[in-house]
Amino acid sequence: MPSIRRYRGDDWPSFLALEQETGLTSLRYASQAERAAFLARWADDLSARIGSREEGPGGDKGTLWVLDEGGQFAGHLWLVKRDDPLTGQRLLWVTSVGVVARHRSRGFGRELMKKALDEAAREGLDSVGLHVDADNVVARKLYEEMGFETRRLQMRRALRR
Ligand SMILES: CC(C)(COP(=O)(O)OP(=O)(O)OC[C@H]1O[C@@H](n2cnc3c(N)ncnc32)[C@H](O)[C@@H]1OP(=O)(O)O)[C@@H](O)C(=O)NCCC(=O)NCCS
Repeated sequence: MPSIRRYRGDDWPSFLALEQETGLTSLRYASQAERAAFLARWADDLSARIGSREEGPGGDKGTLWVLDEGGQFAGHLWLVKRDDPLTGQRLLWVTSVGVVARHRSRGFGRELMKKALDEAAREGLDSVGLHVDADNVVARKLYEEMGFETRRLQMRRALRR
């Protein structure tokens, strides 16, 4: 089983590539122009969101964990502590989780999600949450097997095509 360690600056290209692949999968119903615009801006957007490509996120930007398989980047888990505005509960939000395509279906995604649950328990938080695309059947099956329940659905209606 690979190890899970903190993000380092040399993880940036692999982290970005996996985030871009995941984003493009989510945008599969978007127009070519929207997909191209996402790719053009995502390196800068992601860089701003983590705060530092060299150090990774810190403070209220959370913690970025890397799945390390024999010294190679095999996936990541980005966790941010949040307060639920409705319940006041303290929750650990999985901002992003992913496994590099050639390493999928080997139990690594489950290990990353176990890490999220372990971190939340270690910090004494109330729950772990995330967003997932409705048609991401692999991810949804994994989360449901691990005890996650659907609490909210996001709905949208396009105004032009
Ligand atoms: C979702 C993801 C993280 C799962 O990681 P993974 O390493 O492939 O998953 P695991 O090998 O740990 O499998 C865990 C469970 O996922 C499901 N699963 C994994 N591969 C699957 C496949 N090819 N088909 C259907 N279900 C699958 C199964 O429920 C599996 O449990 P099981 O082995 O007991 O049957 C990975 O597919 C991924 O990175 N996808 C692209 C990015 C993404 O969608 N991230 C989630 C955004 S919310």
